[in-house]
Amino acid sequence: PAIAAVIPAAGVGQRMQADKPKQYLRLHGKTVLEHSVRPLLALEAVTACYLALSEQDPYFAATGLTDPRIVRVNGGSERVHSVFNALQQIDAARYPWVLVHDAARPLVRVSDIQLLIERCLAAGHGGILATPVRDTMKRGRQQVNCTVDRTDLWHALTPQFFPTAALRQAIAGALAAGVAVTDEASAMEWAQQPVLLVEGHSDNLKITRPADLQLAAFYLEQPR
Ligand code: CTP
Ligand code: MG
Repeated sequence: PAIAAVIPAAGVGQRMQADKPKQYLRLHGKTVLEHSVRPLLALEAVTACYLALSEQDPYFAATGLTDPRIVRVNGGSERVHSVFNALQQIDAARYPWVLVHDAARPLVRVSDIQLLIERCLAAGHGGILATPVRDTMKRGRQQVNCTVDRTDLWHALTPQFFPTAALRQAIAGALAAGVAVTDEASAMEWAQQPVLLVEGHSDNLKITRPADLQLAAFYLEQPR
């Protein structure tokens, strides 16, 4: 099927403490955003790519992103609103499936995205790239209250891949209900829709703090 991509790229990157939003910082000669978008555009099935950008974004025009599949849309006040604005623009009849990927994840492999798509299409429902938790997990505030069994604990990554109409409906419902929607899966869970866990590579990190950019540069130098 034809797949639409949605890239929320309208954040300010407060935790990064840089002079511009982290998606526009340079990594190996190009912007983080270009690294994040490229593996999606590498897929032939992705014939439209909706980029949610801040309305007064002065940086996008200077990137090398000129692929004709890119459609620029306005971002919103939180990630979920940026994603929802993009989903509103998508014709679900033409694009029955949508891949949502953070602009701040420049290291995702094309092969991981392909695996996610294959597994979800085979299952007939949506899913996410995720990686198993490795550390011992604690719950508590000042003191440890308990150790959380990590057997079934995962880190949720992106891309996340869902039927377009179902995702749009789930997000609208979750927002109306005041539920926290920190990723697409959380809206689908709220709507009691199944979400497949597809194990991806743990180096698919989200650039969040300054050290993450250095780590990403290191990973990019490794053979993969
Ligand atoms: N994002 C977005 N619209 C927003 C907020 C975030 O499109 N209103 C995007 C970011 O650009 C990023 C992704 O969502 O690609 C993940 O969000 P996060 O890592 O939290 O990025 P920021 O919100 O920019 O960073 P911070 O929370 O540190 O300010
Ligand atoms: Mg944020």
